[in-house]
Amino acid sequence: MQLIPEYKADVPRVERFNFLSRFTHWGHTVTFLLCLFTGLALFLNNVDWLAAIFGGYAGANLVHRISAVIMTIVVVIFVIGNFKVLIAWIKDILRFGMNDIKFLLLFPLEFLGFKVKVPPQTKFNGGEKGNSMVTPTAVIFLILSGYIMWFPTIFPAGLVRLAYPIHDIAMVLATMMVCMHGYLGSFHPGSGESFWGMWKGTVREDWAEHHHKTWYDETYGDKSKAE
Ligand code: HEM
Ligand code: HEM
Repeated sequence: MQLIPEYKADVPRVERFNFLSRFTHWGHTVTFLLCLFTGLALFLNNVDWLAAIFGGYAGANLVHRISAVIMTIVVVIFVIGNFKVLIAWIKDILRFGMNDIKFLLLFPLEFLGFKVKVPPQTKFNGGEKGNSMVTPTAVIFLILSGYIMWFPTIFPAGLVRLAYPIHDIAMVLATMMVCMHGYLGSFHPGSGESFWGMWKGTVREDWAEHHHKTWYDETYGDKSKAE
């Protein structure tokens, strides 16, 4: 059984994500998962087996902090090194309109495997725009509350107390989003090709035109040539 569609090099392909976007995406994915599993070892009771993977609770705590620092560096590299891409991403999110609402209404059917005619989408579809707002916001809260918990003496006591529930709520929210998002960006039959966009940088041209018609037309189609 093939879970991700085969990568086809012999068909027309178009660039979707540049190297830095892919590097930072997988960088924060690995560090996010390490933070999650080490964080759960600290959060849950009686999970000696989970802590044992990291050499015990002290080891889990150390891996959590090392991963957190690497995650912070990765996010900073993205913001500084990919500033134009970041601005284009924010502009795309702000283009949320009727076609995104239609997409979100039709999406449950597509998710269940029904063939639906996707309304023209920009670079990120309605669901990805939602993910682009919720997950990075939760990660920013994780980072801020995490450093406040790490260095409690330099912050007011009330803020340190507040940082714990914020860290936990952001962890639950981001983890739920990532479970859904990870599936949609890999094994989900309709969107599996998007995995190659994030892994190798390009997607099949016909897939891009079908799934992100507005983006395709503006970037590679007749509209881009007219400009
Ligand atoms: C820059 C990012 C982060 C920093 C600086 C950070 C820092 C910390 C610190 C200092 C602690 C307290 C450890 C202790 O009990 O002594 C902690 C706990 C925890 N972290 Fe993070 N963390 C970060 C990201 C994350 C992420 C991405 C997740 C999960 C997705 C996560 C989940 C947790 C959990 C579940 C706990 C246990 C909280 C509790 O005991 O209530 N952290 N983190
Ligand atoms: C668990 C494994 C993961 C897989 C397989 C995965 C896959 C992908 C793919 C294929 C895309 C590009 C979608 C497109 O063509 O537009 C993407 C985008 C994105 N990923 Fe991930 N990802 C994973 C984990 C994460 C994690 C841990 C985070 C953040 C904590 C994250 C945040 C994002 C964001 C914000 C985007 C842009 C918005 C979107 O397309 O939804 N991803 N991911």
